[in-house]
Formats: sequence, structure tokens, C-alpha cells
Amino acid sequence: MKHFSFKKSIILVLILVAVPQLEAQTHVPIYLDDSQPMEARIEDALSRMTLQEKIAMIHAQSKFSSPGCPRLGIPELWLSDGPHGVRMEFVWDTWDHAGWTNDSCTAYPALTCLAATFNPELAFQYGNAIGQEARFRKKDVILGPGVNIYRTPLSGRNFEYMGEDPYLSSRMVVPYIKGMQQNGVAACVKHFALNNQEKNRDKINVEVSDRALHEIYLPAFKAAVQEGGVWAVMGSYNKFRGQYCTHNEILVNQILKKDWGFDGVMMTDWGSAHDTEEAARNGLDLEMGSWTNGLTWGLSSAYDNYYLAQPFLEKIRNGELPESLLDEKVRRVLRLCYRTNMDRNRPYGCKLTPEHTAIARQVAEEGIVLLKNDNNFFPIEKERYQKIAIIGENAIKKLSLGGGSSELKPQKEISPLQGMQEKYGKEHIIFTLGYASGEPNYSNELPSGLNADSLVQEALKVAKEADVVLFFGGLNKNYTQDCEGDDRLSMDLPFGQNKLIEKIIQVNPNTGIILISGNAVSMPWLDDIKGLIQSWYLGSQAGTATANVVCGDVNPSGKLPFSIPVKLEDNSAHYYGEESYPGINNTQYYKDDILVGYRWYDTKKIKPQFPFGYGLSYTTFLYGKAQTDKKEYQAGESIKISFTLKNTGNRPGAETVQLYMSQKKPSVIRPIKELKSFQKIHLEADEEQLVEMEIPVQSFAFYDKANSKWKLEEDSYTLHIASSSRNIQSSVTIKITDSADKH
Ligand code: BGC
Repeated sequence: MKHFSFKKSIILVLILVAVPQLEAQTHVPIYLDDSQPMEARIEDALSRMTLQEKIAMIHAQSKFSSPGCPRLGIPELWLSDGPHGVRMEFVWDTWDHAGWTNDSCTAYPALTCLAATFNPELAFQYGNAIGQEARFRKKDVILGPGVNIYRTPLSGRNFEYMGEDPYLSSRMVVPYIKGMQQNGVAACVKHFALNNQEKNRDKINVEVSDRALHEIYLPAFKAAVQEGGVWAVMGSYNKFRGQYCTHNEILVNQILKKDWGFDGVMMTDWGSAHDTEEAARNGLDLEMGSWTNGLTWGLSSAYDNYYLAQPFLEKIRNGELPESLLDEKVRRVLRLCYRTNMDRNRPYGCKLTPEHTAIARQVAEEGIVLLKNDNNFFPIEKERYQKIAIIGENAIKKLSLGGGSSELKPQKEISPLQGMQEKYGKEHIIFTLGYASGEPNYSNELPSGLNADSLVQEALKVAKEADVVLFFGGLNKNYTQDCEGDDRLSMDLPFGQNKLIEKIIQVNPNTGIILISGNAVSMPWLDDIKGLIQSWYLGSQAGTATANVVCGDVNPSGKLPFSIPVKLEDNSAHYYGEESYPGINNTQYYKDDILVGYRWYDTKKIKPQFPFGYGLSYTTFLYGKAQTDKKEYQAGESIKISFTLKNTGNRPGAETVQLYMSQKKPSVIRPIKELKSFQKIHLEADEEQLVEMEIPVQSFAFYDKANSKWKLEEDSYTLHIASSSRNIQSSVTIKITDSADKH
């Protein structure tokens, strides 16, 4: 008998063992099979999980991650702030920066700046760029963008939001989300809802009418969900009608999930859950960042004690809460996984590319707003001046840091001073600090070795010697001035800047100001300066973009995404006193109701210092007469409006044309004007273009509290074509003759 050789026997054994295994491997379970529909995969994964595994899926395991389900190969979810770039890494269990050397990013301009571009296409590129960097950094969720409405200029987080108008923020948030999510990275729109102040944010209870909720405070969230298809939403810290927003029956269960059909993950802000039963029942799906008992700054590694951890498990075990509540949350977290880290086809991402730099710069350049320009003070053409004085701390301050959770670690950040030196040549620039912010508050305690008076004296000396002075001031993301956790203390510029500016003007009247902030400031010196630019926290390319606009290489085209009042009391939130802002005994009533921002100033006939939508250019534009395709419309139709726009100056430029609507005889109070459309038009010198806009008449409806529905009234409506909310160029009146909704 022929014997098998030893080698052959080994091969045979290998085959006998391997073949059945290979067969088993070809039978891919449904939840891992990407040819299966996502919902079937979710159900399959869910059916394989133990109770403990399910519970683990719905709360944090570290500051910025949740564990997935390792046994089934469902990966951890990694989250990161948001919303202006991908934040640096943190130590697993604390708020200490991890100190990695490979966690720098491109810092994009703050969302106020993005809004000021009035350019949705740029918002798409912005979202896409952050999505790419997030993906490269292995993040599955970016905690942003924020779309809370700018109600008061004091609010510490306005710089992270997109201004005072619900239509503008809706148009900008949708492309941001689409751009980001095409990378397999979820956007997490925040803070749902009514985070319109940072003061007492953990406790404040907001009382606001249904109408203001639906017309002013919710539209951008709704657009994010229904048009942007956002995959995650973050609850706010505050309460609404006595219940925390993060697990608020009306906001989350009713509006977000039922009415809007949101199928993604509703997550907490870091520590915004307060009760297991409410969290379980009222639609909260993922708990992040709480402290041991949710009330105190607690122990580390307290994750098992989170409301949606052990306490929830116990309530399911003892029959107080049904497991079906848990299953629904796990389904949503799984859906998020399939959309992000379980999607094998998502792109790999990249970071710090030249394209990212270009987008950061373009957003900055298009967002900068020229507010005042006596005798063409700006641009500061190179040939005109030998000695340019640059005064002010914000010319050198790295403003991507600070402000709270939106802080970033940019690989490089070009300061305005560097940008100006590069543009004009160091020999033409003299810089001095003028003021210094010291510790991050209003203490005026200067860094050692600095003396406030000497800084002023030095500034005056420099100003006197210069041909022109550019003052770079504003706010700076220190605590209580554009920073989360609290509001600004007043509308004034901090650190003695107002006095300093007055003195500078006395020694050199040829002075212009560049304000860097995310909020309106009072401007007592406005009449005495030659030019004013509203700039923002511009990120990596701050200096280059600023210098490009200042010198005229780029023609400014930004428009204000919020009104700048003359004084704080003119603003709607402050007009009604403490009850309205900041609240008494932790409750506040939004007495301004639907009249927020320009809606308020227009209707109450209060002249703002600068209106919403305002911004100058180095060129001029001529608007033709507006015409509509018809005079009478019915529900379901759209109005086509057209007019010509001509660049009548001698350089290329862009104008954002705005369309506002006024209803003639509404049965309820309506604002004098409401923004219904806008378009940014680029024109060469002398170029003329026919601008066409299409507006669904349904967008003229108001929220009728009587039957909780949008109501369109048969009436006359005037459409204003405008270059700002106060600069109407042409108007046309139409009628809605039949308002019956036929759908
Ligand atoms: C902020 C959120 C942020 C979270 C995580 C919270 O303090 O309110 O916006 O995403 O921290 O850093």
C-alpha cells in the first residue's frame, strides 16, 4: 500500500479544516452584508445584541466616543467639535488636550462669517472641507453646525451661529450638511433648541409662543432635517416650557421626530441630560459628557452611571420602562453607524490641502463686511501711503483658540499683522499693541510687564507719525466676550478700546477701524472715523484675507447677518427688561415674540446703526425695475420676479440682492418685512445681468397658532428688491387670490 507522505497529509488536513470554514464565511450575516437594505441590517444587528450591549451603544465610553458593539464588529463612534474645523484631541477621560502632534487642522472662518457671505455654494464647500478633514482624522460625527438665532448681541455663542434670520440660516445650513455628509461624516446640528443666550444656560427656562418657535427659532433646524437630511441633532442645555430641551416631549418626540420625520440620532450636549425616565421616553438616543450624577462636576469614568446607562438598564429589568424604548434608540445609533463608520464605500478624506486653504481664504474674503467708507478711505492702496500704523491687540491675537468648544489648533494661522506686512512690506508697517486683554475676562489685569497707560502713549506716538491708522480691535473669545458659558457684560468694546480710539482720532483723523468679533458692538466713535470694516474670527487665513480686502485685491462683498443697534436697549430682547433677558428666577419670556432682529427694528421704527443685510463694495451697483411674471397667484404657485443689476463702477464685484416680502392687511401682526430669497451675483466692471428669482407663494404663510398650522392669506403682498433690509431698490405688488392648499 502506498503511504501518504507527511507533507501531503498536512495539506489534506488543511483542506479538511479550511473548506467548511470558507463556506461558513461566504454566508455573511445580514447586518454585515452591504447588498442588504440598511433597515434590514439594523434589525439583524439589533436582534443579535444582548441587553447590556444595547445599553452600551447609547452612552459615552470616553469624552468623545461611544463603544459600538465590539463582539459584532460594530466600531466605536468618534465625535469631535465642530463647527469651524476639527478640534484637537483630548485625553480619554478629562478636558485636557492630549498634546498630540498630528491633530492640527485648517481653521475655517466662524459661522457668522460664513453667513455673511450669503453664498450657499461656499457653505457646501466649507462643509465638505471639514468633512474631509474629519474623515482623515477618523471622526464619524462633527458637532456642528449651530443654527440658533441671534436674539441679543450679548449672547456668548452668536459667533458660532448664522445670524438673526431664519431664512438665511436655513439656506446656509443645508449645503453645509450635504457637503459634510457626502464624506460619510455626520453633521450634528445644534443646539436644539432656543440656545439664544449663554447666561444661565444650564438652568434657564424659555417661554416662547408657538408662533415665534415655528417662524423664528425652528426653521433652520427643520431645513437641516428635511432638506439637509442631517444624521444627528444635539439638544441644548436650557429648558423649554419647564422641561430640559434635550429630553423635551414637545421638541424632540413631537416636533423633531414625529412632525419632521427625523430618523437620525438625538444626542445630548455634554451633560445636558437630567433624568432617566424623561430621557428614555422623550426621544433622547445618545448620552454624552454627563458627570456622575449629571448635577455636579463628577468623577471620571462615570459612564456606567449616566442616565442612559445602568439606571436605564435597571428600569428595564424591573419593568419600569419597556425594552422597546431602548431598541428604538439602538436602531438610530446603528443607522448612524451604517451611514458613517459601517459604510465601506465612504471616501478616505484628507487634511490641510491647498484646496482647504483656498476655501478658508475665500470664505473669509467673501464674509468681511465693509460698513463705512468716507471718500474711498478703503482700499488702502499701496502707492498711497508710506507709513501705515497698525494698532490693536487683535492684529496679532490668534483667534482660533478660545471661545469654548469651538476652539481649534490650526496648523498655521496668519494674523492680520502678518498678512498686512506681507502685502505692504514690513518697512511700511508700524505696529503697536494699544491695549491688551490680559487674562480671559474683563479684569484688565495686563500680562506682566505691560502698563495700560504706556500702551496708550505708545499708540498715540505711532498714530501721530503715520500717514494712516488702522485700528484692529473688537472682541476676542475671552470669557464673557464671544465665548460659551456666559454672555458679554455690555455691548461696549472691552479693555478701554473706545477711549483709545477717541484719542487716536484726535492725533490722526485719517483712521479706519477693523472690528473682529462675532457680535455687534456699540460704536460711539463712528462719526469720527473714515472707514469701518466688520471682520470675524477668520481662522487659518485671517491675515491674508484681511490684507487682500484692505488693499483692494479683493472687493468686499459680505453683508451683515445681524443688525447692529445703536444701543443695547434698542434690541428686541433687551427692550422688555430682565423678564425677557436674561430672565428672572431662571425663567425668561420672549416678549419680542416673532419680532427679532430687523423684524423688530423695522416694525418698531427703531433705526439701527447698520441694518441686517448691509454691506458696501468698492464698486457700485445699479438695480433695474423689478417685474413679476403675473399679478395674481394661487396657493401652490411660484412668483417669478426679475430685474437687471449692473456693476456701474470700475472693478469687478459681487452684490447680494435680497428679496423681502410685506403683507398688506394681515389678520395677525406681521413684521414689516421678511426675507424670502437672496442671490449673490458676481459682475465684471460695467457688466449687466438679468437677475431672476422664484419664490413659492407658500413661503408667505405665517404660523397660525389657532390651529397649529401655516396659514396663507388672500391679500396683496409687496415684494421688495433690496441691497439690505433698509435699502429697498425696487418694489412690486402682487395678489394672492386663492389660498386654498390643494395638496
Ligand atoms: C458645547 C457643545 C459641544 C460640547 C462638546 C459643550 O459644552 O455646548 O457645543 O459640542 O461641549 O465639546
